[in-house]
Amino acid sequence: MQKIHAAITAVGGYTPDYILTNAELETMMDTNDEWIQTRTGIKERRILKGEGLGSSDMGAEAVKVLLAKKNIDPKEIELVICATATPDMLFPATANIICDKVGMTNAWGYDISAACSGFLFALTTASQFIENGRHKKVLVIGADKMSSIVNYEDRATAIIFGDAAACVLLEPDTDGYGILDTITRTDGSGRTYLHQKAGGSVKPASLETVMNKEHYIYQEGQPVFKFAVKNMADVSAEIMERNNLTSDDIAWLVPHQANKRIITATGERMNLPAEKVMINIDKYGNTTNATIPLCLFEWQERLHKGDNIVLAAFGGGFTWGSIYLKWAYDTV
Ligand code: UT7
Repeated sequence: MQKIHAAITAVGGYTPDYILTNAELETMMDTNDEWIQTRTGIKERRILKGEGLGSSDMGAEAVKVLLAKKNIDPKEIELVICATATPDMLFPATANIICDKVGMTNAWGYDISAACSGFLFALTTASQFIENGRHKKVLVIGADKMSSIVNYEDRATAIIFGDAAACVLLEPDTDGYGILDTITRTDGSGRTYLHQKAGGSVKPASLETVMNKEHYIYQEGQPVFKFAVKNMADVSAEIMERNNLTSDDIAWLVPHQANKRIITATGERMNLPAEKVMINIDKYGNTTNATIPLCLFEWQERLHKGDNIVLAAFGGGFTWGSIYLKWAYDTV
């Protein structure tokens, strides 16, 4: 019998309506459009406005788009894995809340926390349940309301992040399509450079942590940049080499959208022309777990059955990795 691979068979996405432009950021802090575009490639990002709305609301919208397009009953979904750095609450899992909001009453689910590599790690995890025959329909969601942990007085981080959610459906394939190889890495010693200082068990929320603004993203941009450039490029080159892929064989690189300069360095290391590299950081900024599926969602009409695709990410933790997959369908 042919080996079972986990194939992406549908994608969905959601971005909030509100557009936070560089021009608006200029009115909020000491920054400018020229600096932001040159250093990051970002022109604007989306922000989820509205009392009581969180990552699950965006995740649920993305899932509804996917299910409607494939005409799938929510009750057919067996497992939901949500990658998020901004869960609705510490518990229960945002995946469970999305299941409730969409009516996926037969699914079980849980969240994965791996910062900006979360979607890649979730996809790797989810693929195991397809490959071992346990499940036939698994949803992997990346959803982040980054604006909920951004300090809009900190120009070094506020300009980077945005809100969005996107998702993919995994189904079994025995014709050689789907996820063919994965590389996943972590290095916990990098945690000091990018993290949220308070709100966990080490430093629970208190008046003091709030006054010290310790519930926001803390990032030392330069060291993170250096690690990201090296490691994202390294794993992308490694996955090409061990699968005997040349740049001609690859149809698309789908990189995590953290900084256009990191993306360009990865593409160059893979020897790929710019037109094979998905970039939408200009419109959405860094949406953490949503960047990679949001690219797939936006590019879906241009993807063809049999396309060799490399996904690559680097994030806080540190976490990083790459996935090689063969696209399983033509969008009609
Ligand atoms: O997705 C998860 C992983 N995260 C990443 O991959 C992010 C990696 N890091 C980066 O993308 C970049 O380090 C940043 C975009 C965060 C910062 O860019 P940079 O080129 O590393 O800038 P920098 O921190 O070295 O700052 C250069 C200068 C500084 O001024 P001085 O000391 O040279 O006078 C900053 O104060 O730019 C200043 N600066 C700004 N100026 C205008 C920092 N932020 C801003 C700003 N507007 N928003």
